Amino acid sequence: MKAVVWQDVGKIALEEVPDPGIRDPQDAIVRITSSAICGTDLHFVRGTMPGMRRGTILGHEAVGVVEEAGPGVRNFVAGDRVVIPSTIGCGRCVYCRAGYYAQCDVANPNGPGAGSSFYGGPEATGSFDGLQAEYARVPYAHTNLVAIPPGVTDEQALMVSDILPTAWFGARLAEVGLGDTVAVLGAGPVGQLAVLSARIQGAGRVFVVDGHADRLETARLQNAEIIDFNAEDPVETVKEFTGGAGPDRVIDAVGVDAESPAGGPAAEGVTGQDRREWERERAQAAPKTAQDGSRWRQGDAPGQALRWAVDMVAKAGTIGIVGVYPPQYTSFPLGAAMNRNLTVKAGNCNHRRYVPGLLSRIAKGGADPTTILTQQETLPSVIDAYEAFDRREPGWTKVALEVSG
Ligand SMILES: NC(=O)c1ccc[n+]([C@@H]2O[C@H](COP(=O)([O-])OP(=O)(O)OC[C@H]3O[C@@H](n4cnc5c(N)ncnc54)[C@H](O)[C@@H]3O)[C@@H](O)[C@H]2O)c1
Ligand SMILES: [Zn+2]
Ligand SMILES: [Zn+2]
Repeated sequence: MKAVVWQDVGKIALEEVPDPGIRDPQDAIVRITSSAICGTDLHFVRGTMPGMRRGTILGHEAVGVVEEAGPGVRNFVAGDRVVIPSTIGCGRCVYCRAGYYAQCDVANPNGPGAGSSFYGGPEATGSFDGLQAEYARVPYAHTNLVAIPPGVTDEQALMVSDILPTAWFGARLAEVGLGDTVAVLGAGPVGQLAVLSARIQGAGRVFVVDGHADRLETARLQNAEIIDFNAEDPVETVKEFTGGAGPDRVIDAVGVDAESPAGGPAAEGVTGQDRREWERERAQAAPKTAQDGSRWRQGDAPGQALRWAVDMVAKAGTIGIVGVYPPQYTSFPLGAAMNRNLTVKAGNCNHRRYVPGLLSRIAKGGADPTTILTQQETLPSVIDAYEAFDRREPGWTKVALEVSG
């Protein structure tokens, strides 16, 4: 079969690889109809989420049709239309039973203390082959497949594989409640759906900060109040618009590839010491890089979004971090957070916990995550699609990959 394979930092390819097979009675094989490219995949190619094993198939978002189910899978049969949540849980350990699927005791072959497992990730997550492929093996398929309800399209379900639950989880981590003023940092796919999620969870006002005009415009079309960090200081601006208080809740939907402002008053505030600190953080986060002109370019300021989050949030407010930082990343402005009584919550999304509820909300017409789906590409053009998404080409917000009909 054809699959997108991680070969090295800066090097991915569409390759012919062996078809996956059932290895355990609880496995299922899914014929992938659509997959997608996530901001997390970019970290792997840029080197800012290190530790990938050569030959790992990339991708952790997909919808498809069950091709074959092992004898330990009693709730799905060949022909069922399914969505695959990104993280892998066993469904029977105490963590999975409590809804912490991303901290399953069993799924990660590195042991119960190893943390999240997901498809197409680094060795520390288990090096499970990913979903940008014609077929995929789904372990513990009784838990890691979710049936797509009638009336929900493949495109809608694809957004529920990862980015909508992640955005929803980000708003939950930030403790968004009725009437809250929320700031979302990052207007990529996760940030856009964090606007939708925060609204549904009761937010009164929602601000969105990014440096790309097209992505800010997409957020404004959801009636978010937008701030371009290359033209305005986001901390000053959001404070000014909130009577000096700042937002009650902030969601970091940026992660380790954060950029520093290229112009405007926020850029003037960046000191030589800030730059040196970010250089140190960059070297720590990404020991190996493969930047090639504008291709696979890391963010120049890994801690920028976290710092803005701590500086802008209201006293005693909450920050929810879903932007990805690698395990060896150690910088966080703890002193400022501690002295302003902030609550900070972070994590990999427990996708499986939210997927069924979000699908039924979509089926009832209560949300449509496809408004941010801008690109429908096919598997043969996947490498070009990765490059355009990596460059954040205008209009390229979320890329779906049609794999088979
Ligand atoms: N925790 C999870 O389970 C989980 C799941 C999916 C994605 N993620 C992570 O969420 C993040 C966003 O994913 P995405 O697919 O939307 O990625 P993306 O790369 O498309 O979006 C990131 C956005 O942040 C903006 N940005 C850069 N620097 C910024 C700054 N200083 N302030 C504000 N905005 C800034 C970029 O311009 C871009 O629009 C990534 O780090 C991804 O790895 C986490
Ligand atoms: Zn993802
Ligand atoms: Zn488990």
